[in-house]
This record gives sequence, C-alpha cells and structure tokens, in this order.
Amino acid sequence: MTWLKSGVAVEALPEVTPQEVVLGSQTLVLVRLGGTVHALDGTCPHLGGLLAEGRVEEARLVCPLHGATFAIDTGAVMADPFGVTPPEGAVEPLRRYPTKIEGGMVEVGVPGPDRA
Ligand code: FES
Repeated sequence: MTWLKSGVAVEALPEVTPQEVVLGSQTLVLVRLGGTVHALDGTCPHLGGLLAEGRVEEARLVCPLHGATFAIDTGAVMADPFGVTPPEGAVEPLRRYPTKIEGGMVEVGVPGPDRA
C-alpha cells in the first residue's frame, strides 16, 4: 500500500460535506463523518456522476445525477439509480480506501508498493 498526501487538512474538512481530491490518476471523494475521514471512489460507477457534488444523508452518499446511494462506511449500494431499496443492480459498490491523519493532514492508502 502507498500512502498519498491529499493536501487536505482534517480541520478544513467540514462534517458531511463531500470534497473531491485527485491523487495521481484517481479521483476520490473525502467525507468526514462523526470525526472519521472516509475516502471513496469519486465518480459514480453508474454513469460517472461526481460524488463530491452529491449530498450526505444519514451516513449515506447520494449521487447527484440519478440518486444512487452508497453507505459511506462500506461503499455498499443502498439504493440503485432508480431509487429501488434494496438495490436491484445497475450500479456497483464504491471502493473504499484507508485514511490516516499525519500532522493534521489527510493521507489516503492506495494499492501499490510501500514507499516508506
Ligand atoms: S451516475 Fe450516479 S446514479 Fe447515475
């Protein structure tokens, strides 16, 4: 795993306000929820909605385009793009990435060799 610096200070990340970060070739979304910073894929697996433009409702991230809903703590699909709960397909779960705080800044772990 490689830890990448997001450039985002944890104190500058408001609770339940998704924030996009681009790390290398990946677009991710950071969401601070209950003091914990979560990192997930930043684009919706349905048709590419930018999840940083979505909203957080009860620990779920809602895609701004068609409303697919994902659990922030697992990335699981909670409602599909057609509003069906439990979901009946059409969208894959979001990948999650580990986070840590170093010197007040958010770092995100991505697959790859250690650069320690
Ligand atoms: S692009 Fe996200 S639900 Fe369609």
